[in-house]
Amino acid sequence: MKPDQVEEVEVQLLLEGIFRVWGHDFRDYAPASLRRRLRLWLQDNAYTSISQAQGEVLREPELWDSLLRSLTVNVSAMFRDPQFFAALRSQVLPLLKTYAFSKIWVAGCASGEEAYSLAILLHEEGLSGRCQIYATDINEAVLQTARTGIYSLEKIRGFTAAYQSAGGRAAFSDYYTARYDNALMAPHLGENIVFAAHNLSTDGAFGEMHLVLCRNVMIYFNTTLSERVLTLFDDCLPAGCFLALGQKESLHLRSLKPRYKALQRDISLYQKLYV
Ligand SMILES: C[S@@+](CC[C@H](N)C(=O)[O-])C[C@H]1O[C@@H](n2cnc3c(N)ncnc32)[C@H](O)[C@@H]1O
Repeated sequence: MKPDQVEEVEVQLLLEGIFRVWGHDFRDYAPASLRRRLRLWLQDNAYTSISQAQGEVLREPELWDSLLRSLTVNVSAMFRDPQFFAALRSQVLPLLKTYAFSKIWVAGCASGEEAYSLAILLHEEGLSGRCQIYATDINEAVLQTARTGIYSLEKIRGFTAAYQSAGGRAAFSDYYTARYDNALMAPHLGENIVFAAHNLSTDGAFGEMHLVLCRNVMIYFNTTLSERVLTLFDDCLPAGCFLALGQKESLHLRSLKPRYKALQRDISLYQKLYV
């Protein structure tokens, strides 16, 4: 067997072990990026092979925690893809206004930037008191950051530009207080957000939603897992409600495609059909 093939076996054994011991299922993640992240983690922790690390990963919660943090890509930004947030404002929020109360699920929320962006949109559209945002992620460490609502001022510059491109109605500085090198998001934004741990590979849905955002998460999944996750979303979306995916993700070639209509070209924003 070539070294690459041996490594492939080691990856499979490790992922099987992680699933059985820690309950986290990475077996259906896209292999190339998973392998790359695993190699980086091994290097950082001075292991020479996956087999060498396996026993400790399966026995030591802290080591597993460190690996879990490295296996997930947690990059995020406020008003990421500004045209998407502009479309959300013009095409989805008017419909949410017709409901007495709406529930929104941000799946794979990372450190919360997307959820706070959404809270800002809802605030500007007068929907704050009538919407609940559930923002979930597999990674507890990033959820902790999300709960604090604290972001570095360095990042805030980019967030401000994206907010303006997305058609923001105020000054972005209205939504945070600067303290030293950090910005604390206005507490009223966090009042409508519940941050919670949820694993899209193994957990079920939690009730009916009017809008589900799962952006830049499924690019790390293989087809089997993507289909599972889309079915989970479909189960909680009544007809007429909305599903948002990332810029590099779409329902193209997915079994659910015929049940949804795309709202705008070049943006993965869909409405569930009444069929
Ligand atoms: C690249 S970030 C995307 C953040 C945000 N949605 C955005 O578009 O800016 C991907 C997030 O998905 C999360 N994730 C990966 N696998 C997951 C799973 N099985 N269940 C829930 N979240 C997952 C990661 O922890 C990470 O925070």
